[in-house]
Amino acid sequence: MADFSALNARFGLSGQMTFREGSGGLAVVEVANNQGSATIALQGAQVMTWAPRGQSPVIWLSRAAKFAPGKSIRGGVPVCWPWFGPHATNASLPAHGFARTVPWEVIGTQTMTDGSARIDFRLIKSDATRALWPHSSQIECHVTVGAALEIELVTRNTDRIAVTIGAALHTYFEVGDIRQVTIQGLEGCSYLDKMDGGQRKQQTGLVTIGAETDRIYLNSSADCLIDDPGLTRRIRIRKRGSRSTVVWNPWIEKSVKMGDFGENGYLNMVCVESANAADDVVTIAPGGEHRLWVRYEIEPLI
Ligand code: BG6
Repeated sequence: MADFSALNARFGLSGQMTFREGSGGLAVVEVANNQGSATIALQGAQVMTWAPRGQSPVIWLSRAAKFAPGKSIRGGVPVCWPWFGPHATNASLPAHGFARTVPWEVIGTQTMTDGSARIDFRLIKSDATRALWPHSSQIECHVTVGAALEIELVTRNTDRIAVTIGAALHTYFEVGDIRQVTIQGLEGCSYLDKMDGGQRKQQTGLVTIGAETDRIYLNSSADCLIDDPGLTRRIRIRKRGSRSTVVWNPWIEKSVKMGDFGENGYLNMVCVESANAADDVVTIAPGGEHRLWVRYEIEPLI
């Protein structure tokens, strides 16, 4: 069990950042300031909620999410690392890597000049993580909470050989009704359609979703805009260091099978994930680093 008094004494920012025990005994940090609020689990450095001040939630967290040590949480911003999806050569390894299900430590907090609050996490290595990833790498996740939410994933290769990393900020966005949503920014991109045996296809026009959708858009670095008439808002996703964009909605049948989506939960979410996957995995030279950065904001729908 985390020592919350020690965490609060060392890293709590008076009035805007508090560490406490959350559901299922998971340690969480609550952030609330003049610009926005968020809840982040120390397991997986996983943002679970975020809303700009006075606005409804932008990040979707399943009403039926399960909270338990070592289990991934359905919703929020799971960190997929050091591979995305199934492991390339060993199907018995955990999907999306292990970063989302292991404890991370807090290494720093600060109030930024614009009033937002930043918290930096580092993945805690253990025999279990070394068994899954026998390389000398360090991974940090920096989260800044304000009117925007910024997340930066930093991978440092401290090994003597190059490493190849797949990663994603697997963000679940809250929407009024997925059937009315359009996603801009992927027009003209090639994608791998996991609903059609991974076939390579090309996006024409905006992305809309009316059935189970699971796609990896390649070589896609532009901002994505989620236009949501249901909540009369647009979510803008800016990113750097990410060449893939994954768009996922399980739709009804798969979400029922998954068991942690809640009734009709799939109607109120869409994953638009800033990733490096498939053709876009990243090779980091010895001593080098890679930064995957995103910034989410809401804008009026025009
Ligand atoms: C998406 C994948 O990123 O994550 C899907 O493209 C997968 O194939 C989904 O089903 C959810 O994965 P998980 O492991 O969190 O259930």
